[in-house]
Amino acid sequence: MTKKSKSSAQWLTDHEKDEYVLRARREGYRSRASYKLLEIDEKFGLLRPGTVVVDLGAAPGGWAQIAVQKCGRSGFVVGLDLLDMEPLRGATLIKGDFTEEKSLAELMAVLQDRTVDLVISDMAPNLSGMKEIDQPLAIYLTELALDFACATLRPGGALLMKCFEGSGLDELRRVIRTNFKQLNNVKPKASRDKSREIYVLGRQFKGS
Ligand SMILES: C[S@@+](CC[C@H](N)C(=O)[O-])C[C@H]1O[C@@H](n2cnc3c(N)ncnc32)[C@H](O)[C@@H]1O
Repeated sequence: MTKKSKSSAQWLTDHEKDEYVLRARREGYRSRASYKLLEIDEKFGLLRPGTVVVDLGAAPGGWAQIAVQKCGRSGFVVGLDLLDMEPLRGATLIKGDFTEEKSLAELMAVLQDRTVDLVISDMAPNLSGMKEIDQPLAIYLTELALDFACATLRPGGALLMKCFEGSGLDELRRVIRTNFKQLNNVKPKASRDKSREIYVLGRQFKGS
């Protein structure tokens, strides 16, 4: 067995025993990521009936499920991902690359003239394991999500983004602070300890 296939096999074994994976299967969520958003929402109350939510990097749809449950019929949930997603009642799911203008245009077409209350981004590049390659790609996705949020959020709205500790993150936090009145760094319990993943939350958007 090569070193890489050994670590993939180990990942699979760990994944199959993971308490959040088992819980998601039991409770009908599409991914363990649902519990991250649930915990963050419990703490900050982001998702309410009527909330208009844009979910970036939505596949397979665990966050979108939570958003639909919490925002109800008066809410509006649109998700985008590179990957195919099973349809989800109550949400509009788009297949597309967020780095492409075409996907942005599709998102805007679905939103019509709605103002957005909340942008959530769990986007992550395919990680190679090499920080020098992964971190710039991850930062680029968060910068795009931040630009999108600044262009579409209503004043007072919020942005939640998956980030990775490392080069470029402090600068990103600085830009978030200039656009949002409040910034929080959140590491939900379902986020694996050994991962550099951290969620950065900007609340009370100052307006574009
Ligand atoms: C951690 S997963 C998201 C899990 C999701 N929040 C859930 O609850 O099921 C990260 C996703 O980001 C997507 N992604 C990465 N780069 C993207 C891009 N440029 N455009 C759209 N989606 C992207 C990946 O395809 C992947 O499905």
